[in-house]
Amino acid sequence: MLTRRLFMGTAGAGLLLSGSLARAAVKTNPFTLGVASGTPRPDSVILWTRLAPDPLQGGGMPFGDVTVGYRVWEDAERRKVLREGTITAPQADAHSVHLKLEGLRPGREYWYAFTLGDFESPLGRTRTSSPSSNQVRLALASCQSWQSGFYAAYNDMASWTPDCVIHVGDYIYEGGISTLGNRAVEKPGETLNFRTVRQHNSAEITTLWDYRNRYALYKTDPALQAAHAAAPWLVTMDDHEVDNNWAANVPQDPWAQTPLEFKVRKLAAFKAWYEHMPVERPPQIDGIEASLDMTGIYRFGAAQVHLLDTRQFRDDQVCGNEFPGQLPCDSHADPKRSVLGAAQEQWLAQSLRSSQARYNVLASQMWLSPYRFNDAPAEPAVNMDAWDGYPAARQRMIDLLGDGISNPVALSGDWHCAAAMTLHASPFDAKSKPVAHEFAGTSISSDCGWMHEMDTMRPANPHVQHLNTRQRGYCRFEVSDKSWLTTYRVVENAYDAGSLVKTDAEMKLHDL
Ligand SMILES: [Fe+2]
Repeated sequence: MLTRRLFMGTAGAGLLLSGSLARAAVKTNPFTLGVASGTPRPDSVILWTRLAPDPLQGGGMPFGDVTVGYRVWEDAERRKVLREGTITAPQADAHSVHLKLEGLRPGREYWYAFTLGDFESPLGRTRTSSPSSNQVRLALASCQSWQSGFYAAYNDMASWTPDCVIHVGDYIYEGGISTLGNRAVEKPGETLNFRTVRQHNSAEITTLWDYRNRYALYKTDPALQAAHAAAPWLVTMDDHEVDNNWAANVPQDPWAQTPLEFKVRKLAAFKAWYEHMPVERPPQIDGIEASLDMTGIYRFGAAQVHLLDTRQFRDDQVCGNEFPGQLPCDSHADPKRSVLGAAQEQWLAQSLRSSQARYNVLASQMWLSPYRFNDAPAEPAVNMDAWDGYPAARQRMIDLLGDGISNPVALSGDWHCAAAMTLHASPFDAKSKPVAHEFAGTSISSDCGWMHEMDTMRPANPHVQHLNTRQRGYCRFEVSDKSWLTTYRVVENAYDAGSLVKTDAEMKLHDL
């Protein structure tokens, strides 16, 4: 058992006597994956780490659960200790730690570190949320393909020290190993150049062992670790955390994976996601059935953030596997098709209708606003994996948002393009009543293979106020009682880990 006296007596030498058996067995630094915090509430936050002295080979921890020490300070200089203690890192959870720190004060910064034997983790900063914060700083991130680029965006984000980072998915990519170097793709009148800057650590991942090692690979990145250590995160999943374009219990290629194989794969993916994310709720596992509750409502000053799950409860995509989807296609407009599922739709409607917040944020993976890839007046050719593929469900959402909800703001990712858009009552008619704003972040590092088509078709999408398909980066939001400012930060060179990151566009949000 850790005591304050023991800690004080050894802290100077960086020693903490906890988990003596593990200490003896762990000869190299187990904190290779850094620290993280998340799920910020006015009085609590989740602190995370995972013990992994050999991160790319299953972690490398000895058999059995391990006791880890932790300490929380009220200042970055570590003068004022708020809390200290021990917590178990269960072997069953890949020796990850999810410590719920309670009894905190709202809108306050805290600093924390974990210890095992002689080893101490990096220092993390976190912050509780507060409904009464006057000035809030939120960051939006998504899509961080390891192979497509480096994470300079995260260094810039870390230096900004946001109150919270909202990550809307594609934290890992499940694919195999790409060939290093440049790759050219010919489009009409344009050659697109992409580069694989570093490689995945295995073929396409399907097992728990694979997913753990893939998360570990991504989490070895120092810029990603810095962004986690700088602020609490809210995280929700998109497709690549499991399998490209999966929907509920349907993989992208049902002819290549049986329903049973996909369920087992999804269970592994959900388990590994929990083990590597600063979240409170582990997956519910019943036999081979696994489900995750990633949703939540968080209040940051004038912004009420609804963290959504647009992947786990949706109906399967229709109109073929081509992009854009093949039309006409009868089932496309079927009113029974859903993105959120009935329970989440109801939960969201209830929360929005009772919200007192000036800004009502919907944070999720995919674009709520439309984007057509043909000219009017033909039936819009669209991406069937986004809300565009579920027009009846989107219309239900539009009708809800347009019914007196104060300043709905959708924050999304998935599509690897930065965009500021207005969602209209009739989504493809920019002259109809505006009902919501949308800010889509670009990707942290993932390629935008459809940039040519996006740029070519922009004139057919007059509801788009800002579009940058060519650069990687993230969004900053500065929210007060009176204003909302969005800043698009872009990486000058995504193939350079030390790249400069600069402001591409700033947009003040107008009240709806
Ligand atoms: Fe992505």
